[in-house]
Amino acid sequence: MSRVLSVPGIAYGGDYNPEQWPEEVWAEDVRLMREAGVTMVSVNIFAWALLEPREGEYDFSRLDRILALLHDSGIAADLATPTAAPPAWFFRAHPEALPVDKDGRTLSYGSRQTFCPSSPAYREAALRIARVLGERYADHPAVVMWHVHNEYGCHNAECHCDTSAAAFRDWLRTKYDDDLAALNHAWGTTFWSQWYYDWDEIIPPRPTGAVPNPTHQLDWRRFCSDALLSLYEAEREVLREAAPGLPATTNFMVMHNFDKLDYWRWAPALDIVSNDHYLRSTDPESQIDIAFSGDLVRSLAGGPWLLMEHSTGAVNWQPVNRAKTAGELRRNALAHVARGADGIAYFQWRAAKAGAEQWHSAMLPHAGTDSQIWRDVVRLGADLRALAEVRGSTGTAEAAIVWDWSAWWAVELPSQPSGELRFQDLIRAWYEPLWRAGVAVDFVRPDADLSSYKLVLAPSLYLVDDEGKANLTGFASGGGTLAVGFHSGAVDENCHIRLGGYPGAFREALGVRTDELFPLLPGESVGLAGLDENSTGTLWSERVALAGAEAVASYTSGPLTGVPAVTRNAYGSGTAWYVATRPDPTTLASLLDRIREEAGVESVRTTPEGVEAVLRRGPDADYLFLINHGEVDAEAEVSADATELLSGKGIEGGSVKVASGDVAVVREPR
Ligand code: GAL
Repeated sequence: MSRVLSVPGIAYGGDYNPEQWPEEVWAEDVRLMREAGVTMVSVNIFAWALLEPREGEYDFSRLDRILALLHDSGIAADLATPTAAPPAWFFRAHPEALPVDKDGRTLSYGSRQTFCPSSPAYREAALRIARVLGERYADHPAVVMWHVHNEYGCHNAECHCDTSAAAFRDWLRTKYDDDLAALNHAWGTTFWSQWYYDWDEIIPPRPTGAVPNPTHQLDWRRFCSDALLSLYEAEREVLREAAPGLPATTNFMVMHNFDKLDYWRWAPALDIVSNDHYLRSTDPESQIDIAFSGDLVRSLAGGPWLLMEHSTGAVNWQPVNRAKTAGELRRNALAHVARGADGIAYFQWRAAKAGAEQWHSAMLPHAGTDSQIWRDVVRLGADLRALAEVRGSTGTAEAAIVWDWSAWWAVELPSQPSGELRFQDLIRAWYEPLWRAGVAVDFVRPDADLSSYKLVLAPSLYLVDDEGKANLTGFASGGGTLAVGFHSGAVDENCHIRLGGYPGAFREALGVRTDELFPLLPGESVGLAGLDENSTGTLWSERVALAGAEAVASYTSGPLTGVPAVTRNAYGSGTAWYVATRPDPTTLASLLDRIREEAGVESVRTTPEGVEAVLRRGPDADYLFLINHGEVDAEAEVSADATELLSGKGIEGGSVKVASGDVAVVREPR
């Protein structure tokens, strides 16, 4: 059954928490929602304590009134199960459901998400309220989607209690087919006398005297992601039984260094993928982060997705919380649409008066409607209405970046050749020049179908299993262009080193063999010849020997002077590049330009400096988003029969003006 969102066009709204306000305020809420063009709000996210005052006793009267009011006002409800914040009474009855951190501290209730993901009492209580809610509102005319929980794992991705330990053992018994010897071999437990003779000897990777076992830690991360996924799936099942046709989502958080959940495993369990994205005050180019996030979410979704949360202005959880500058709210929201969002929502509708998030911005700020944010919110509503036809269109990438959560977890484990490698930074270093060049990219799993791509980049793929290895190298030998970053292919799915020389899995395809690694110290750099003038490498180097490949660049200083640093290999009917250091950003940009030009991957559009161009492709038209992040007004070429959707005007002379800070969305018939 295909469960799709019935709200037309680009959905618009935010988290709506009317239970935090006296009822007199609600009428004003919906009146202003209509004024802003809000079409869908997420309700009930943190309302458990009010819905179920005592175990098994419910009071749905308030929620009944909220949903009726929304329905009467023509606003759809994305109805949440409130399971991210169990009430105090639950923890008094079930203190064993409180989570234990890795240092053995039991956390207290008093905020949110303070439950153990493996707690049977929590699961039972969560499914009970989900079932009652599902049955009560399955046919409610306001309800268009289930918002299951909220940001799984945001605060409690790991619990180290004994219940979690037992659940971890069960998960391991399933994974290793009840074969303890298989686990011992996979974990390499002959090392340091770690051999297990009884499943009960296995505990979570709690703090220990020296470095813990890497595969133990890796399986633990996989278990923690799966433990939360199983809670999501259980709630979704209960809701499906009650309302088989309603779509379910849960909001991901793919950026913010959020490495807790393996979203490739999660995404297929969602009817509609949604994501939350927040800017970091310290990031001067947050437009790149938005694009990065949007491309990753669209790839997880395999098409359009919903932006479930972002902010109209400052958040409250950074050391200093920056407001948005003029036009930034609009650029941010439309940039998410450009990357495939079919819905734009905020945390939250009305700025809170009390509680831990009272200093967080909202669509309706503390200052009320006589405010810049409110004017921007109303204008955005009109913009999104003008973009209704964009819904359903999707990306056009010919280049893909490999992204894998196990590889992320593994490369950041302790006792690596270098403790300086950060997966997200390594990927962003390659994503950023592609973004600047206006190249469309998808993100892919190592074992994805790569047949629609000309170029596949693996900036950081420390861990890869045999299937991923065969898929990626087969892509190159079959005629594609593969580019691999240093310290990739080093280990298999159990974190065992692929012997015979580095970069293990990719040695043959790359036509190189490294016998020793020379990671660089913080601040250290080495000269490079063969690329841009005065180029340097930092972070990493290794003694690469050519085994069929040609050297494109080599080191001009340091112990590896004369050794290849970047190589290119003709492999089958394709090409495989190896980038064995981190070139300075300008050099990496020109190297990636060369690689993609050879691969025949072009920019979406050539645009003036500072103008981001993104394309969504629909059945009859392309939608070209032009976002001017620069200081000067610009003019971009478009097709002669194009229309600018935000203004509704036809375009004369084959070019469109985009003022500094402004956005144009151009429909080009195909
Ligand atoms: C999100 C969360 C929201 C709100 C928001 C504040 O992580 O889902 O409930 O806390 O952050 O930025």
